[in-house]
Amino acid sequence: MQNVEVRRMAEKVVCAEFGGGGDNWNQSILLASDQHFDSTHCDRDLLEKHLKQARATNSLVFFLGDWFDAMQGRSDKRGNKSGIRPEYKRSDYLNALIEETCDFLEPYAENIAGWAEGNHETSIEKYTELNLLSCCIRELSVRGNTTIQPMGYTGWIYFRPMRPGKKKKAFGTVRLAYTHGTGGGVVTRGSLNVNRRSIMWPDADIIASGHIHESFMMEVQRERVSDQGRLYQDTQWHLQLPSYKDEFSGDGNGWWHETGKSPRPKGAWWVDLSKQFVKTTTQNYAEHIQIDLRRAQ
Ligand SMILES: [Fe+2]
Repeated sequence: MQNVEVRRMAEKVVCAEFGGGGDNWNQSILLASDQHFDSTHCDRDLLEKHLKQARATNSLVFFLGDWFDAMQGRSDKRGNKSGIRPEYKRSDYLNALIEETCDFLEPYAENIAGWAEGNHETSIEKYTELNLLSCCIRELSVRGNTTIQPMGYTGWIYFRPMRPGKKKKAFGTVRLAYTHGTGGGVVTRGSLNVNRRSIMWPDADIIASGHIHESFMMEVQRERVSDQGRLYQDTQWHLQLPSYKDEFSGDGNGWWHETGKSPRPKGAWWVDLSKQFVKTTTQNYAEHIQIDLRRAQ
């Protein structure tokens, strides 16, 4: 992808540096999780629509866990014969998952910056000693020009627009903390996690998670104080990422209905970053990275 360098700053911190950060700089990032790509319930058309939009707009893409459903292997008691797509009816089931994912993602692989583990991937590793994501990342790097960073269940992503010119200097950093997710949130739809996570990750500008197949954006406004005693406010943005899997539709049978689960929103979230100028005194303006959040649906 043009004008972006993705690198690992520390074991659990990935940084995306954007070039050409002039006064009109803007950049979009797609945060998507819980695709459950190999499930019969995955809305692949919607997924493809968002990936095409990312490619057309030079946007970065991060997958935050549960790309795979991967429940139809011999080791998984949750599998059922009607839930398996015909292309996976092979004795080398895990190979089939990897091949089909790479065929689907190959046209968009240059835009994918990071790929994090979800509980469906860690479950496969636990029972089969195979890491599906590292197999896919390696295969995609053989097929094309990619810089996909493998990421853990939790971690950090830094977004850094660099000033134009030879001296590489950022004019700001947006810090995003993520976890694939925990808990059920059946009644609260995950909103109780907002305060837990804002305490755990006070340095984050954005906190994103998936896993429970719900969707919301919540703002936490904070009073901050500088070393010079200057008071100011900022916002910590909380994003709950929905899923691409709709297990509710259909004939009303199955585990989803037997356990009383509701319909769930589909899609993902866009993070739109742009350079703005805020008035600090009557004559001075300071550069600032504005964060706008937009549903991908
Ligand atoms: Fe999950």
